[in-house]
Amino acid sequence: MWDFKSDPRFAGIKPFEKKIWLSSPTMHGDEQHWVDEAIQTNWVSTVGENINEVEKQIAAYIGCKYAVALSCGTAALHLATKLAGEKLYGQARPDAGTLAGHKVFCSDTTFEASINPVAYEDGEAVFIDTERDTWNMDPAALEKAFEIYPDVKLVVLAHLYGTPGKAEEIKRICDAHGALIVEDAAESLGAKYKLNGKWVETGTLGDYNAISFNGNKVITGSAGGMFLTDRRENAEKVRKWSTQSREAAPWYQHEEIGYNYRMSNIIAGVIRGQVPYLDEHIAQKKAIYERYKEGFKDLPVRMNPFDAEKSQPNFWLSCLIIDEDAMAPMVRGEQDYLWKHEPGKSSPQEILEAIAAFNAEGRPIWKPMHMQPIYRMNPFITKEGNGRARSNAYIAGSGADVGADIFRRGLCLPSDNKMTPEQQDRVIEIIRRCFR
Ligand SMILES: Cc1ncc(COP(=O)(O)O)c(C=O)c1O
Repeated sequence: MWDFKSDPRFAGIKPFEKKIWLSSPTMHGDEQHWVDEAIQTNWVSTVGENINEVEKQIAAYIGCKYAVALSCGTAALHLATKLAGEKLYGQARPDAGTLAGHKVFCSDTTFEASINPVAYEDGEAVFIDTERDTWNMDPAALEKAFEIYPDVKLVVLAHLYGTPGKAEEIKRICDAHGALIVEDAAESLGAKYKLNGKWVETGTLGDYNAISFNGNKVITGSAGGMFLTDRRENAEKVRKWSTQSREAAPWYQHEEIGYNYRMSNIIAGVIRGQVPYLDEHIAQKKAIYERYKEGFKDLPVRMNPFDAEKSQPNFWLSCLIIDEDAMAPMVRGEQDYLWKHEPGKSSPQEILEAIAAFNAEGRPIWKPMHMQPIYRMNPFITKEGNGRARSNAYIAGSGADVGADIFRRGLCLPSDNKMTPEQQDRVIEIIRRCFR
């Protein structure tokens, strides 16, 4: 570890006494009231008023007919993916998931919970490269993927860091190929998107949609997630699967595989206290993004981009990407890394170490799925076609792998909505000095 505190570049900067987090829970007090009420009335399990209420509140906020409260976003994504698989390929057998023998096109730069449900359902994820305008699934790469695998009927689309992806183009491509969409809006709750000229919420853009209330999200239940849909039969099926797929018999009777995925009424109490603050949290996150943008305007870096015409992100995480010619040497292995300072330049690992030395938390960009050891044999498609095995000892250069490039040059900045402007100024100053 470099000793940043004795590095003259950082002279006069004091460490934060209390850690500045990437994105931590922000409680307001109302949560306690609803949790206490659940305990006092003895409704502490997976049935109760808090659950009913948050399902109604979120459906109303999102503008969908049904929200089904589940234990986490991963559970919501699993059941969304399973519903899609069942619709496309029929009911699962106990020993084989709904996607067995089928490929699914998946966002590549995302958290792995988006796409692991494809594996839970025994399908094969085909990773689609990322575009530079919003850091989400590249419609041109998706189009290529349908050329290579015309039989694919399912796409898993995530909105990275709260920035909506190019959903209109992706929906058009999916419609043309008769493919369904599972939308992962875990990071983008409250982000808006202009679809065919009309503003809608993320979480309404897919055929099966999921959100998360994980502790680091824009609002939290400490955990929790929801499946969102306009179709009653889908909501009912997810409710059944999430409560062990019980049939209406006096004993435990099962015609389908079940899961213990329902949300608890205690968790729902925390969410009930948080929902009224969703817009306030988004406004705070937006202000953080804008302050970073201003603070970095003369550095060789850019913020994570979004399409201002077609989207209003929830600004969950602010990120930066270093210009190629300002990248100092940095190499990453599977679990370790090395960086070297060069005047006027820096690297994500140097910046992350520097802010950590002063007690602030950042994070590397999510490492793309096609680069993950577990998925190293899965296909990866870029806008030029097959993204695997393109290097050749006798041919110079290779096609673009956008996700790998953003991972290499980018990082997530401390984006906690409780960070004060003064604290953020200090984070900005530390980063500025990394480039000295
Ligand atoms: C993109 C994405 N999808 C899915 C999840 C999973 O949500 P949860 O942690 O609620 O299971 C997360 C975050 O945790 C996420 O960032």
